Amino acid sequence: MLFYFSGCGNSKHVAETIAAGLNDKMVFIPEAAREGRYEYELAEGESLGFVFPIYAWGPPKLVMSFVKKLSVKVGPSTLRGASGTAGSGTLSYVYFACTCGDECGLAEDIFRKALEQKGWKLDACLSLQMPETFIGMPGFKLDTDENAQRKIAATDTVLAEYIPRIQNKESFSKMTKGGAAWFKSRLINPGFSKMATNDKKYYTTDACIHCGKCVEACPLENVTLEDGRPKWNGNCTMCMSCYHHCPVNAIQYGKATVGKGQYYYGRL
Ligand SMILES: Cc1cc2nc3c(=O)[nH]c(=O)nc-3n(C[C@H](O)[C@H](O)[C@H](O)COP(=O)(O)O)c2cc1C
Ligand code: SF4
Ligand code: SF4
Repeated sequence: MLFYFSGCGNSKHVAETIAAGLNDKMVFIPEAAREGRYEYELAEGESLGFVFPIYAWGPPKLVMSFVKKLSVKVGPSTLRGASGTAGSGTLSYVYFACTCGDECGLAEDIFRKALEQKGWKLDACLSLQMPETFIGMPGFKLDTDENAQRKIAATDTVLAEYIPRIQNKESFSKMTKGGAAWFKSRLINPGFSKMATNDKKYYTTDACIHCGKCVEACPLENVTLEDGRPKWNGNCTMCMSCYHHCPVNAIQYGKATVGKGQYYYGRL
């Protein structure tokens, strides 16, 4: 079973590619969380996978909260939940794949620890560079189309090599940590989650054509239309999908996004 989160489609593409390679089922984390579905049953020998984007050199907060609540039964009658105690059925293989624009910092350590707190062992992890989606602060910009396409092609090549390794339940860690990883993941990450993960600065310009695409694009169902104009309702993970999917680029995030263009997987 493969649990995934994706805002702008990069991680969805990776999750779909892995799930197709493994002939596995996919569960979209925001939808499962919305519906309070935290209990799952795996067949004996079935792998447990996670796919998500990197946010500020760590896994997104919503993914971490979901993992914390997740309970997995292995085999027909054996419960393996938060305590990690298992009977005859045990988790045979646990992996994650994350997508990032450049680097992941200590995401592996953070995720491994969260699994260990549940009594689960991380067997394999993989980071994949995909087109940048975050432009919500000065200094951050999107990849050129050429660079974005190069990253997607490189990711597909890496996946073709690593999916068979996941299928064979190999142990590996192929992560691009980057420099100053401790500083970024342990100091900047918590500050970013607290201060920069909110929708207060989103607004629309007069270019808005009231099409509702931003409503459909939000994985958290946080955008509604009020008198034809989008309203952000305070439950935002800052994935920027609403911004990127607007067909007339009418959404802005303060001054940070002005003139920076748009990207989502499949747009190029
Ligand atoms: C809020 C936010 C924070 C991000 N932080 C990082 C980061 O720390 N390092 C990095 O390389 N990419 C970062 N990115 C880029 C994304 O990880 C990358 O574009 C990812 O593939 C997006 O996946 P998605 O399309 O599935 O949402 C960030 C993107 C967002 C929206
Ligand atoms: S409101 Fe926009 S940025 Fe926030 S979660 Fe929804 S789509 Fe993502
Ligand atoms: S996607 Fe853009 S044009 Fe459509 S309703 Fe939202 S802001 Fe307006």
